[in-house]
Amino acid sequence: MKIISVWSRKGGTGKTTISYMLAGAAVDRGLKVLLIDDDNQASGVWLSEFNNVPFEVVKGWPEHQPNVDLVIVDMPPRTDDKPLGTVIIPYQATPLDFGATARYIPELRKTNKVIEVINRRRNIAIQNEFIKGISLDKRMIINERSIYQTVTANGRNIFDPELKNKYGIREAKQEITNLLNEALA
Ligand SMILES: Nc1ncnc2c1ncn2[C@@H]1O[C@H](COP(=O)(O)OP(=O)(O)O)[C@@H](O)[C@H]1O
Ligand SMILES: [Mg+2]
Repeated sequence: MKIISVWSRKGGTGKTTISYMLAGAAVDRGLKVLLIDDDNQASGVWLSEFNNVPFEVVKGWPEHQPNVDLVIVDMPPRTDDKPLGTVIIPYQATPLDFGATARYIPELRKTNKVIEVINRRRNIAIQNEFIKGISLDKRMIINERSIYQTVTANGRNIFDPELKNKYGIREAKQEITNLLNEALA
């Protein structure tokens, strides 16, 4: 059983969105997935109530080890709980957003595989400047796309077959697929 934790010290960085899309991508390739919503806000559990979700979502860690191929943990922003497995850290490409998270990363890298994700990437000066100054070797990019907002509005994810002709979906699936490949590698 593999574990992917989506972690960040900040709220609103895309943890729930990325957790949901990764879970959808993993189901799409035939894996049995459990999403653990560890955040008190419980957006993940709330989304699953739309019944459009092809994986199980539970609040908090179950008592017994779940019988699945992949566990994805949507972590709360302020916690001392150590993320398990491969850790995905989303942040926006601005000094302020990065600064809030950056200092925790070296310590985590000692014990976990860490993938930094520049989320909500837009082609604007502040982000272009920031990205010029960092290495993209160990970082992946998820662009700002309205499709990520529209699909989650009713608990769907971009791998839902009913959505296959929606604007931007092909590109979104590609970037989430790349992230899942990297996380499972
Ligand atoms: N790549 C993206 N493109 C567009 N909107 C995004 C993207 N990632 C996240 N969002 C939006 O940002 C907001 C916060 O995302 P969310 O996943 O709830 O963050 P968190 O779980 O870290 O609090 C939501 O409105 C979500 O739709
Ligand atoms: Mg969340």
